[in-house]
Amino acid sequence: MNFPIIAPSVLSADFANLGRDVEMINNSEADWFHVDVMDGVFVPNISFGFPVIKSIKKLASKPLDVHLMIVQPERYIKDFKDAGADILSVHIEASTHLHRTIGAIKENGMKAGVAINPHTSVSQLKDVLMDIDVVCMMSVNPGFGGQKFIENTYKKCAELKAMINECGSSCLIEIDGGVNDITAPKLLASGADVLVAGNYVFASNNPSQTIAMLKQINKSTTIA
Ligand code: DX5
Ligand code: ZN
Repeated sequence: MNFPIIAPSVLSADFANLGRDVEMINNSEADWFHVDVMDGVFVPNISFGFPVIKSIKKLASKPLDVHLMIVQPERYIKDFKDAGADILSVHIEASTHLHRTIGAIKENGMKAGVAINPHTSVSQLKDVLMDIDVVCMMSVNPGFGGQKFIENTYKKCAELKAMINECGSSCLIEIDGGVNDITAPKLLASGADVLVAGNYVFASNNPSQTIAMLKQINKSTTIA
């Protein structure tokens, strides 16, 4: 895999032209589709569910990275597999028996991710780091696209990278929210592997070119 992994968030796509936007991602340098599922309970917004994910899956030529912002995500693991998820992330704040949930995601043949809200310390991930493939670190409070990046994320990202290196996990760090040309270089320098970008990609004049620009940002960029 050529880093950084770029995962455009379909939440900011034009749903009246979803097929067109999926094809744009297929033909771009993006690596994954980031698919945000919101239930109106865990987060104050409702996005979309299985029929939309299945439609995306039919056209998508790249893995679906499904981010569940729902309570009790363990109830729907097989349904998301059947809808087409390749990577499934659940929130640590939403899953009481997180270890069991991670096991169930992997038993269903998906990569397992754990998402953490801005207030959640990375130290809470310590005992699952060897079991998971991705940490989805929220750099905004989940619920909406186009929000302002929370600066404390750089520090959290570097802390998590050190924990991952120390325990020898191959877990990737994915940053979700407020990624743009200013935040992306600093995030990569802090240890991020995967960049989710919604508003920055889809509100730009040339989404495909914006994805290409994010893809070529160099990991060695120094933090200003
Ligand atoms: C927020 C979602 C994000 C969102 C990112 O709750 O999890 O994936 O789409 O959007 P931007 O890149 O617009 O901040
Ligand atoms: Zn997301």
